[in-house]
Amino acid sequence: MSNAQQKKYLVTGGAGYVGSVVAAHLLEAGHRVTVLDDLSTGHRAGVPEGAEFIEGRIQDAAKWLDPSYDGVLHFAAFSQVGESVVNPEKYWVNNVGGTTELLAAMRDAGVRTLVFSSTAATYGEPDQVPITEDLPTAPTNPYGASKLAVDHMISGECAAHGLAAVSLRYFNVAGAYGAYGERHDPESHLIPLVLQVAQGKREAISVFGDDYATPDGTCVRDYIHVADLADAHLLALGAASPGEHLICNLGNGNGFSVREVIETVRQVTGHPIPEIAAPRRGGDPAVLVASAERAKERLGWRPTRADLAGIVADAWEFAQRRESQ
Ligand SMILES: NC(=O)c1ccc[n+]([C@@H]2O[C@H](COP(=O)([O-])OP(=O)(O)OC[C@H]3O[C@@H](n4cnc5c(N)ncnc54)[C@H](O)[C@@H]3O)[C@@H](O)[C@H]2O)c1
Repeated sequence: MSNAQQKKYLVTGGAGYVGSVVAAHLLEAGHRVTVLDDLSTGHRAGVPEGAEFIEGRIQDAAKWLDPSYDGVLHFAAFSQVGESVVNPEKYWVNNVGGTTELLAAMRDAGVRTLVFSSTAATYGEPDQVPITEDLPTAPTNPYGASKLAVDHMISGECAAHGLAAVSLRYFNVAGAYGAYGERHDPESHLIPLVLQVAQGKREAISVFGDDYATPDGTCVRDYIHVADLADAHLLALGAASPGEHLICNLGNGNGFSVREVIETVRQVTGHPIPEIAAPRRGGDPAVLVASAERAKERLGWRPTRADLAGIVADAWEFAQRRESQ
């Protein structure tokens, strides 16, 4: 890559799951990367080799952002739905308050390109699938509401100050990319939880509701490989246009039920994975599947790792790699 093509990016939350994978992709594409992460839920080992690391908060981004940066990829946030219900202020302060400071620092430094990790949780429980970006947003928890508030802030920043921004609304991110994978604590995502059963760390997997209006009665979700997601971020940097806030869903457009995920983990790991039938959880819609047509059209994005067995196999390899470290 020539010096003219090489760009310099600030990756907030780059010690976390998705941020570390995207940072690794940016480095592989020949760019310079600075990770800004306070390690509140991330891990120092998640920062890819070759990235500069600043242990700090987005609230203090003004200390480090300067005009040498070509853009910011903003992953830093708290993202536990259950925690956000019992401690909503934590989510407003960090996700919304922190991003206010980050946007101000970008404005002051003249850094005018942003890619933001938004979420399917901004839609709440839509009565239509696949979910398109023009459906009403009605988050059902403070986490989703805080992410939607940030989307609104970014829209204002684009309109008033010419920011070039893309919000990517992820559905269920899964899989791993070599040394970079999912290590949330507590873990709330289905695939790593089922893999914990295969590793003997948990006795069984709870299935919350098996009487939904779906083919096998369990909830259906759209799982997207984290490396496909990373590809979309690099494309989004190229598609961002001054004054425009582009919002794109990111999912495969294919739903898999909880039972299908469990069965796939059985096949990949060879473990019997005992199940426990549990009551439905409030606020769990039967089916959440993305329409990613806009991402395909506007970003030129195509998922290439949509196969559930491949997603699970990559997550399993990462889980075993961690075990052996
Ligand atoms: N994982 C998913 O399935 C999923 C789905 C939809 C949206 N998202 C969004 O993607 C982003 C990344 O999610 P993840 O699963 O990688 O989470 P994660 O917890 O692994 O990563 C978040 C990172 O941000 C850091 N951080 C948090 N607050 C910070 C602050 N104030 N200053 C600096 N660093 C801070 C944490 O230490 C962590 O490393 C989040 O914004 C999340 O809302 C994730």
